[in-house]
Amino acid sequence: MDKLVSLAKRRGFVFQSSEIYGGLGSVWDYGPLGVELKKNIKERWWRSMVHERQDIEGLDAAILMHPKVWEASGHVAGFTDPLVDCKHCKNRFRADDPRIKGTPGQPDAQCPVCGSKGTLTAPRQFNLMFKTFMGPVEEQAAVIYLRPETAQGIYVNYLNVQQSSRQKIPFGIAQIGKAFRNEITPGNFIFRTREFEQMEMQFFVKPGTENEWFERWRAERMKWVEGLGIRAEKLRWHQHGKDELAHYAKDAYDIQYEFPFGWQEFEGIHNRTDFDLSNHQKYAGKKLDYLDPKTNERFVPYVVETSAGADRTTLVVLCDAYREEEVRGGEAAEDGGGEQRVVLKLKPSLAPLKAAVFPLVNKDGMPELAHRIHDDLRRHFNVFYDDGGSIGRRYRRQDEAGTPYGITIDGQSTQDQTVTVRDRDTLKQDRVAADKLVDYLTQKLAG
Ligand code: GAP
Repeated sequence: MDKLVSLAKRRGFVFQSSEIYGGLGSVWDYGPLGVELKKNIKERWWRSMVHERQDIEGLDAAILMHPKVWEASGHVAGFTDPLVDCKHCKNRFRADDPRIKGTPGQPDAQCPVCGSKGTLTAPRQFNLMFKTFMGPVEEQAAVIYLRPETAQGIYVNYLNVQQSSRQKIPFGIAQIGKAFRNEITPGNFIFRTREFEQMEMQFFVKPGTENEWFERWRAERMKWVEGLGIRAEKLRWHQHGKDELAHYAKDAYDIQYEFPFGWQEFEGIHNRTDFDLSNHQKYAGKKLDYLDPKTNERFVPYVVETSAGADRTTLVVLCDAYREEEVRGGEAAEDGGGEQRVVLKLKPSLAPLKAAVFPLVNKDGMPELAHRIHDDLRRHFNVFYDDGGSIGRRYRRQDEAGTPYGITIDGQSTQDQTVTVRDRDTLKQDRVAADKLVDYLTQKLAG
């Protein structure tokens, strides 16, 4: 993991937040390449969920919501983690931290940081929601929360969306947005943070049909994840046991990835029944039932939710793409000898930069032609111009950035207007006419 974190910084994917002040715990900023990668993932999700389907509408609800929303949703009472303190070293842990030996609150319990015995307090519940104040007065009546999930913005708007878009049940609402959780033990880079982005979709169905839709959405979501190019053997399902289920869920499956720190979820499919809508109906005192125009039946819909973390999915994509390899043959020689390379084998359509343009040398008309090609390509793709250092070193930098194609303008290019295109993964080079590069890359980047 340390190697990935260091590559992410070196190449401008992810930086620690407020680094010049020593950083802010488990908060991260996305640099020039990271913002592109995460945006490509989010756009792919939006396209498959909203644009390619007739039965799902998009929404962008506000982060701040009426405080009663979180009472109705059960988050004020139930969105808690058990927390223990070490009275000796003052560190805090989740009570289920696997590093804790013994039972917290008992003399046998041992602090995983300072090693003291009997200093861990008995677990107490800690609410994970961030609180803030609305308006100038910091008083209890002004308390509001930063949303811990985007889903509630969808529930409180479901009738607005349904009526304005004239959707009929079954239909869904999709949203991408920030969520905040005051996690007790964040960590593992962008895996568990206190501020993160979710890509959530709530699918509203007739009661009695939720199991069928649950299975359909499980299959759809796994297909989408596989479409990111993730190796199949690194993916698996995990069904929540009774003690793992969130307070709103009747059934839940996680899609897990085998991270360097073990198997962990990055997306969940949840059967939320009518838990949320019924509670909002009760707390808001407003009817949230749906009138079926065909049967004239009225019912509160059941909800099947698909909930993915944009940051965790980005981490999955980065972990899965990261490889250290030996480079053989001509390229190793061009590089001045170093045969090891670090490469991000990102799916080309997800890669932040689609191609890099290199004049072989900075003379003999090569830079002029290279600039012309770069200017032409950048109207179609995110491309990069690099004329610094040996060509081997320039290839290595783009390998680390995950750039799938390297376009080199050499002596032959100025004679016949062709260039070489080097494939990041196979290292094979094609000679392509400069005026056919847009078509060539378009074809390669599809999918
Ligand atoms: N609306 C349902 C919900 O929020 P969840 O399992 O708590 O369900 C869904 O969260 C997804 O959000 C997770 O699979 C994960 O990808 C992401 N996520 C949750 N907490 C996170 C955190 N602290 N940091 C980064 N991502 C997080």
